[in-house]
Amino acid sequence: IRDDPPAVGDYIANYICKRINDFAPTPDRPFVLGLPTGSSPIPVYKCLVNLVKAGKLSFKHVVTFNMDEYVGIPREHPESYHTFMFRELFSQVDIPPSQVHILDGTATDLVGECNAYEARIKQYGGIELFLGGIGEDGHIAFNEPGSSLASRTRVKTLAYDTILANARFFNNDVSAVPRMALTVGVATIMDSREVVVIVTGLKKALALSKAIEEGVNHLWTVSAIQNHPWALLVADEDATAEL
Ligand code: GLP
Repeated sequence: IRDDPPAVGDYIANYICKRINDFAPTPDRPFVLGLPTGSSPIPVYKCLVNLVKAGKLSFKHVVTFNMDEYVGIPREHPESYHTFMFRELFSQVDIPPSQVHILDGTATDLVGECNAYEARIKQYGGIELFLGGIGEDGHIAFNEPGSSLASRTRVKTLAYDTILANARFFNNDVSAVPRMALTVGVATIMDSREVVVIVTGLKKALALSKAIEEGVNHLWTVSAIQNHPWALLVADEDATAEL
């Protein structure tokens, strides 16, 4: 537990930096990092950019896989997760674009796209560290309430609560928010060797208590991490209000 979102961001960015540096990645053995979007990871990305600028971290031998992407909006859309990731992180660090993987929500064969994504993760030997955020309803990636805890990367219809919560990124126009997304599954996240979850703000307080103080429950999909051997939740004071 840290005081506020910047302190959470600072803690997680330094944690990831240490993990990458201790791993000492090479071209033959890159560090495979899973990444989220949303407002919660922004302080983490700011701090990672600063660590790169200070010469303390390099993404040259890091391969990334993003958690999810909207279906039906082009890559160039200002609110696509592609745009978000390049704006907040990739354009500001030394990662070769060929090492970035983000699901393509405009693919003609969406199921094929999801299966190929799982295969690509396997080719790299799995994900070393998956960083995630959570929704107010306890979803991780876009694994909405009721998702199978054995789910893999797939097409998912967004919950109405998620559409409402994300309308703020679309000029508060609920009708502009995509209805579907491609997302890694709960099992995809659970397969990674380490999971780190950012939980900040009062709005996430109920989800945090459901995640750790009640049983594993597919209605609060982040609770699955209770079964992960190496999971770390980093929260700010506000998010702990219901604990
Ligand atoms: C979206 C993303 C999730 C993210 C969530 C929370 O639903 N698909 O991966 O965790 O938003 O977003 P925020 O951090 O803005 O609260």
